[in-house]
Amino acid sequence: PMRRQTVPGIAARKGAEPVVMLTAYTARYAQLLDPHCDMLLVGDSLGQVIYGLPSTLPVTLDMMIAHGAAVVRGSYRSVVVVDMPFGSYEQSPEQAFANAARVLKETGCAAVKLEGGAAMAQTIAFLVARGIPVVGHIGLTPQAVNALGGYGARGRSDAERAKILDDAKAVCAAGAFAMVVEGVIESLAVEINANVTCITIGIGASAACDGQVLVTEDMLGLFERTPRFVERFHDIATQIDAAAQRYAEAVRTRRFPERPISMPDDRLRAHSSAK
Ligand code: KIV
Ligand code: NA
Repeated sequence: PMRRQTVPGIAARKGAEPVVMLTAYTARYAQLLDPHCDMLLVGDSLGQVIYGLPSTLPVTLDMMIAHGAAVVRGSYRSVVVVDMPFGSYEQSPEQAFANAARVLKETGCAAVKLEGGAAMAQTIAFLVARGIPVVGHIGLTPQAVNALGGYGARGRSDAERAKILDDAKAVCAAGAFAMVVEGVIESLAVEINANVTCITIGIGASAACDGQVLVTEDMLGLFERTPRFVERFHDIATQIDAAAQRYAEAVRTRRFPERPISMPDDRLRAHSSAK
């Protein structure tokens, strides 16, 4: 069987082949995406995408662990990265280590991802020094939606631009092997890429990044609110709608099931009368 890719293997891809990453939350999606990806992200976007929550803030560590374990079970070759949810790592490096260790132990994933720049540098260094590979996440950080005031692109003002560039450098210097660069204006993404040595993975950032990530449901046309920058590589929602309509029609017209040979109750009765 093919050997799973490794964190050092991904890190060594700087300046070489682009790194392909998609989100996965379930074993079946992991099985389907794994052959095509280098990394699978168990994103806390699962809060909105599969739980219908209004933001990623209510997502819990237990939710991330349950879905992370499913994705590890469903994949064979991708590096699996699990998001640390809001409130599980910001308090202290010690809190982050205790929770990240649980994630690694209980899911079998290779790395965790956490949001934040310079403010998280000490925590990133603490985890990395203790054997936990970290992916950073800078620019538009959805867990900070209340502070940011929305999900608009970041880096429009000079002050914000300087801060985000500083965040990128700090995350990289702290030892993250990769970082997601989300929702920053293109010229800033270009500048970040000229200034950091770890792998950059863009989402709504630019082609200047070393790799790209999308939320799989967005890419498939499955999530009801698709961000502007997303290319829909398919329209699965329309197909599910059509299949459900055909099924409902078949049940209502008694075309399906075609010929009910024996119902479970009949079988039970047959079994007990045979005794
Ligand atoms: O939670 C998520 O899916 C993410 C990606 C959008 C990078 O963090
Ligand atoms: Na996330």
